[in-house]
Amino acid sequence: MDLNEQLLSFISRSPTAFHAVENAAGALRDAGFRELFETEDWVLAPGARAFVRRNGSSLIAFRVPQGRPEGFLLAAAHSDSPCFKLKESAALSGDGYVRLSVEKYGGMLCAPWLDRPLSLAGRVTLREDGRVVSRLVDLVRPVALIPNLAIHMDRSANEGKSWDVRADMPALFSLSGAKGPDALVAEALGVKEEELLSKDLFLYPCTPGTVWGAEDEFISSPRLDDLQCVFGCLQAFLQAGESASLTALCVFDNEEVGSASKQGADSSFLTDVLRRVCFALGLDESDYLRCAANGFMVSADNAHAVHPNHPDQADRSERPVPNGGVVIKYNACARYTTDSVSAAVFSEICRAAAVPVQRYSNRADKPGGSTLGNISLSHLSLECVDIGLAQLAMHSCYETAGAKDTDYLVRAMKEYFSRSLRKTPEGISL
Ligand code: CO
Repeated sequence: MDLNEQLLSFISRSPTAFHAVENAAGALRDAGFRELFETEDWVLAPGARAFVRRNGSSLIAFRVPQGRPEGFLLAAAHSDSPCFKLKESAALSGDGYVRLSVEKYGGMLCAPWLDRPLSLAGRVTLREDGRVVSRLVDLVRPVALIPNLAIHMDRSANEGKSWDVRADMPALFSLSGAKGPDALVAEALGVKEEELLSKDLFLYPCTPGTVWGAEDEFISSPRLDDLQCVFGCLQAFLQAGESASLTALCVFDNEEVGSASKQGADSSFLTDVLRRVCFALGLDESDYLRCAANGFMVSADNAHAVHPNHPDQADRSERPVPNGGVVIKYNACARYTTDSVSAAVFSEICRAAAVPVQRYSNRADKPGGSTLGNISLSHLSLECVDIGLAQLAMHSCYETAGAKDTDYLVRAMKEYFSRSLRKTPEGISL
């Protein structure tokens, strides 16, 4: 399979953050990484390769160098994407229809979700041998759809539309109501409906990803933000050579809702794991702080490409395009962490990997979004650069990016993870 086929396969097998992390864990296991559990004691030796999950939806994988770690070389991306979460009691009956009531998870464009076959996936908890256990579920087949209102009933539909989630977004699910969503989930898991205790279920679009364009320039798929970066950084991490730094790949859940959960970038997950790795290697708190001071993070989350129909929405001189290479993101108010030092270091890495670099900043009169880097840095202080791949229609349920850019990201990040960062009063060498 070529890289884009692998990316689209990873995304289609990852309808939720739980599945994305499960698939990343599978790839790490296949590459010889062992899973550690936060509830157990850790013993690590030089050369160890391992990963830890929290909540099943965030993951940190790391590689311990042969010698005493010189510093931390980190990358972060996010496992979640905006979508609709099913209410715990979702079924709504009326007029012969059964619909599923939903809440918004994150800030999505609502319109693209309509008139599209949707399926259900997520995590459920079951009673099993007197214990509460979690299982992932993916119905795979289309089971729901949010129908538009005909133009004849809303003549102003093409003149700007505001969406009311409660009124407009319940998804049509059944006519008879003979089988509710719980029945389908129980059936898919091979358990009885009564055994289901609780659910984290999400609607997701069944539309498969595709490569397209006059010369196959584009790739479109659900969840490119940010599974394109998760996938690219994971490939690079698996392919990287030896480093004298402790290298780690962080995949955080809940970026789309502000990161403030027990497993998000605004939690203690990263610092807990890095501290425990140090202690399990026989190092102490001062080694941990020394490694952080000699550390670097790449925060990888997709960036806005110039829109072909709305070019004036982009900055006048920083205008990323699909297939133009990795985008370094800047913001004067530090919503992106990039500064002249981290931008220079990362540009040098890209130069060594023969990967083109583009630049992005918000139009000066627009606030723009925030991402993982600045939130992580409030827990762990190290050099950080915000990057991403240029994409269109961010937070649509079907996004578009460049077909060459995933390869650029893999090459840049492989180069990065194969380096050893050394900071001295004279400067930074990699
Ligand atoms: Co993102």
